[in-house]
Amino acid sequence: MRLFLFVLTSVLSGTSVALDNGLMRTPPMGWLAWERFRCDIDCDNDPKNCISEKLFTDMADRLAEDGWRELGYVYVNIDDCWSSMERDQQGRLQADPKRFPMGIHNLSHYMHARGLKLGIYGDMGSHTCGGYPGTPLDKIELDAQTFADWEVDMFKYDGCYSNASEQEKGYPLMSKALNATGRPIGYSCSWPAYQGGLPPKVNYTQLGEICNLWRNYGDIQDSWGSVLSIVDWFFDNQDVLAPAAGPGRWNDPDMLIVGDFGLSLDQSQTQMSLWAIMAAPLFMSNDLRTISADARRILQNKALIGINQDPLGIQGRRIVKEKSGIEVFFRPLQNNGSALVFFSRRSDMPYRYQTSLKKLNYITGSYELFNAFTYRTMQVKDATDFVVSVNPSGVVTFLVSAPAKINRRQFYSGGKLQGPAFEDAEENSLPPVFL
Ligand SMILES: *[C@@H]1O[C@H](CO)[C@@H](O)[C@H](O)[C@H]1NC(C)=O
Ligand SMILES: *[C@@H]1O[C@H](CO)[C@@H](O)[C@H](O)[C@H]1NC(C)=O
Ligand SMILES: *[C@@H]1O[C@H](CO)[C@@H](O)[C@H](O)[C@H]1NC(C)=O
Ligand SMILES: *[C@@H]1O[C@H](CO)[C@@H](O)[C@H](O)[C@H]1NC(C)=O
Ligand SMILES: *[C@@H]1O[C@H](CO)[C@@H](O)[C@H](O)[C@H]1NC(C)=O
Repeated sequence: MRLFLFVLTSVLSGTSVALDNGLMRTPPMGWLAWERFRCDIDCDNDPKNCISEKLFTDMADRLAEDGWRELGYVYVNIDDCWSSMERDQQGRLQADPKRFPMGIHNLSHYMHARGLKLGIYGDMGSHTCGGYPGTPLDKIELDAQTFADWEVDMFKYDGCYSNASEQEKGYPLMSKALNATGRPIGYSCSWPAYQGGLPPKVNYTQLGEICNLWRNYGDIQDSWGSVLSIVDWFFDNQDVLAPAAGPGRWNDPDMLIVGDFGLSLDQSQTQMSLWAIMAAPLFMSNDLRTISADARRILQNKALIGINQDPLGIQGRRIVKEKSGIEVFFRPLQNNGSALVFFSRRSDMPYRYQTSLKKLNYITGSYELFNAFTYRTMQVKDATDFVVSVNPSGVVTFLVSAPAKINRRQFYSGGKLQGPAFEDAEENSLPPVFL
């Protein structure tokens, strides 16, 4: 076995400042219309799926009644194509009167009465991506105040039809304007996605100060290829992205498509596991009225949600990339715990991957490995070889409880993996444990 990528570089989270609105200390969770329902406005012919208040109250009912809300899925987020083509006589944005007869303010009441929150969408340019009225520089204060008046809880600011210099002014200005309303409103910035997602064009220090979350990369589509391209980009750039994340400030690899049409069961488990490792916002974009039991079980998996919502808010990393196509992902968690995901890029058959926690740089000691999908628990010593059988495009995901003597900080101090992780441990000659 050859490990040819084996360096962890990170900084302790909490060293950078987060947007000071007190919100989203763990990644936000909920539902967002875009990937599944797009800009379907044909309510005459497709009343169940068109962008209308009925779609959002239907999803709210499902979140409140089918066990989602209690797990943290509380945001019900409108995306593009909600507004009228015209602003009102005072110049304010208004909802399309036919598709949103009760209006956005009443819709937010509907959410709040059910213990949920409402998110809304706007765009930095002259128009939204779908061609609806935008929120350019001279409309920022007015629109922020309108959203606050409607008691909205989150705002996604897209970037179509704007250029780099407008974005540089507009995204911070909107942050100030939202703050000035006095209403805490979670702020999602699409800015970096329009600037290639990487320095020097993107300043992640600044983003963390003005936004709660930000889209770094292109839109997700309902396919495995799309999920894989997102995974590749985020982990190939983990040295830039991971230090940017922390409580109140998150990288957003885009929506969960689990429950839609493009992913197999194994691929669905992979998306959920890697979004948990990445400390990604968990916004489902699916039809909660008809979702399968299998997809629901994955999205409601408490171990995965627990990993995603870990209060330390440290974004995990890929720590191993094998020639065999097996990759290992690691995220440190509170109480000296951690999460491990073994992912297979293979397309032949389940691959039996043999490793040990010692090979994965865990320090000497006994550990408990809880398999997030089979719920089986196994005790292993750091040097004990074990075998995981990883399905093609699937994962094996563990919650690892560490011995009390491990100090997570020792993994991360000085930005380099060091300290007891390299402590000598006696090679354990026991036969491999199968998990
Ligand atoms: C506005 O910003 C100030 C200073 O950063 C902060 O104390 C306050 O909580 C913020 N208010 C809202 C509503 O975000
Ligand atoms: C909207 O809410 C107001 C009170 O908040 C209520 O009087 C009105 O009937 C509601 N309208 C609709 C269409 O639900
Ligand atoms: C960006 O757009 C604004 C407004 O349309 C325009 O005045 C400005 O020249 C543009 N800047 C660049 C760099 O294209
Ligand atoms: C990035 O933003 C931070 C905070 O706003 C600022 O202090 C820093 O100078 C910026 N870095 C660059 C390279 O512009
Ligand atoms: C984590 O490890 C540190 C350092 O060995 C130890 O002091 C602490 O008690 C451990 N914390 C927990 C919750 O086990």
